[in-house]
Amino acid sequence: MSPAVDAVDVIVTKRDGGVLSDEQIDWVIAAYTRGAVADEQMSALARAILLNGMTRGEISRWTEAMISSGVRMQLPRDELGGRPTTDKHSTGGVGDKITLPLAPLVAACGVAVPQLSGRGLGHTGGTLDKLESIPGWSAELSNEAMLQQLEDVGAVICAAGSGLAPADKKLYALRDVTATVESIPLIASSIMSKKIAEGTGSLVLDVKVGNGAFMKDLADARELAETMVALGTDAGVRTIALLTDMSTPLGLTAGNALEVAESVDVLAGGGPGDVVELTLALAREMLAAAGKPDVDPADALASGKAMDVWKRMISAQGGDPAAALPVAREIHTVTAPSSGTLTRLDAMGVGIAAWRLGAGRSRPGEAVQAAAGVVIHAKPGDSVVQGQPLLTLHTDTPERFDRSLAALDGAFEVGDGFAGAGPVILDRVVG
Ligand code: URA
Repeated sequence: MSPAVDAVDVIVTKRDGGVLSDEQIDWVIAAYTRGAVADEQMSALARAILLNGMTRGEISRWTEAMISSGVRMQLPRDELGGRPTTDKHSTGGVGDKITLPLAPLVAACGVAVPQLSGRGLGHTGGTLDKLESIPGWSAELSNEAMLQQLEDVGAVICAAGSGLAPADKKLYALRDVTATVESIPLIASSIMSKKIAEGTGSLVLDVKVGNGAFMKDLADARELAETMVALGTDAGVRTIALLTDMSTPLGLTAGNALEVAESVDVLAGGGPGDVVELTLALAREMLAAAGKPDVDPADALASGKAMDVWKRMISAQGGDPAAALPVAREIHTVTAPSSGTLTRLDAMGVGIAAWRLGAGRSRPGEAVQAAAGVVIHAKPGDSVVQGQPLLTLHTDTPERFDRSLAALDGAFEVGDGFAGAGPVILDRVVG
């Protein structure tokens, strides 16, 4: 029997600015998942969605269809010792290593954190790529192992199993290499299909805004946040979103092992102020969403309890938390061209530079370099002296320096007249 719809028909509808029917959406997602719609057809559809958008109804149906492409997990609260569950998801930024200290911190406060994470997308780093720089650590866990770790340790960061929203898995990889990431309907449905399917009780979204984020301005970020909060709330998941600044990189590192080291600094009670501030703010939101508004995560950070959970979490997945992290074979230093104040350091330039150094991938499935990335020596507002190091580029393959340096061309400015650093947290969206 031939289907009532076909791929070309669906592409034409969206290309011409129409609204996809429920039947078209259900069919195209299911057919793409089983390989009956080709990557080039899905890529054309993703492009049409990027250009023409989707209604709230279409986004909701698209998300449902992506959830239905796989299994919906149930997190057994009883086996978790009655602990509620909560999760956090960031829309992707540069130097955004917050999940690493956050998951053990929240678990140390008595709330279980099942964090199913992804790999790098475009110029933004991926949590799994970062953790894989720890010798021995594995992202792949069976559902049973994941639940066991959640019960024993309270926190698990791992790859979403192949059964969870497989349509998103394929589409995410396709969007990464076809420049079709920056679409509110596609980002919202991608994130929320995985989060709803994983079965978390509550969810805190970190929606990034600025030149280094997929959403460049506050209005778009707010629309993305509202779309995701509505999808979560409709699915019975307590969902809130923070809109946070991504005009300049978060912290002082962008790259896999470099970001792990910075996260360990935070867990040890140090680390850059913006990383600590955002980690604590998101932890407070997660604890409140999970019904523990009175627990102060700063205590678990200061007491070392969060560090203890980190070590157990890494060991449980085969990693050695005490092992030395990989170090790049080559470095190149970028110095201040003049003396004055660093008035601007664009997250996008630093993110692309780190990506080109080997921290991210340009083809699906490509290996990333654990040690590649950028170390930042000055942030906007800092005084700098001509010739002092501003950035250090790290890579195992020095032929990458030229293209990485090209990404930094115009990405920072030394002058005077710095207006002051803006806040890290810009707004909060609740259902
Ligand atoms: N993170 C996701 O999981 N999906 C997107 O589309 C963007 C960020």
